[in-house]
Amino acid sequence: MSSVDPMPFKRIAVLISGHGSNLQAIIDACHHQHINGEIAVVVSNIPHAYGLTRAAEAGIDTALLTTQEYPERTEFDKALHELLCDYDVDLVVLAGFMRILTPEFVDAFKGKMLNIHPSLLPKYPGLHTHQRALDQGDREHGCTVHFVTSELDSGPTILQAKVPIYTNDTAEFIAARVNQQEIQVYPLVVQWFCENRLEMKQGHAWLDGQKLGTYGYANDQ
Ligand code: GAR
Repeated sequence: MSSVDPMPFKRIAVLISGHGSNLQAIIDACHHQHINGEIAVVVSNIPHAYGLTRAAEAGIDTALLTTQEYPERTEFDKALHELLCDYDVDLVVLAGFMRILTPEFVDAFKGKMLNIHPSLLPKYPGLHTHQRALDQGDREHGCTVHFVTSELDSGPTILQAKVPIYTNDTAEFIAARVNQQEIQVYPLVVQWFCENRLEMKQGHAWLDGQKLGTYGYANDQ
């Protein structure tokens, strides 16, 4: 028997509510074997989310859980938990999943759930991040990939990417610029996780055994 560990290979669930550009980037990275894993299921809480079409076109199982079906947050999250257990997933990737998760759900996937948020956290958790950065007169903006904890858009930062904000910019232009960064950094972080290089412990993200700082990997602050 070989003493060399086989290359890890993870089963991933991607949770979406909308367009699915981040989902598509992860589908493509799996397809090109830039990620040692496969998307086992894509789950949406919105019936017409375009990400569901992207998943179906890639031959990936999809599931829809709606608030009509599960009006109680705890029931929704219980159904979601059961679904993800049925698919035996190793990693849950929130990719524009616009729902607050119960602490019980978050706890069940502690250290195994990632989120991407369109701001340089801890700045601007929540909605309308691009407009808020503009209104504050910020000169830069960006996105953050982080482990999920029970606080909204919080949890140990893994990687941030910055974009400039120009004079006469609009929230739409900034959003497009940030999205270009998101689709680069999210597959990379998913790959780190799938290679067993990334973990959450002691309230921090760790990469290759090195504790990452407040702003994650490769930050110049
Ligand atoms: C992305 O910009 C992501 O950062 C944001 O939703 C968008 C989803 O786009 N997530 C959040 O705001 C989470 N708080 P997509 O559906 O095209 O991937």
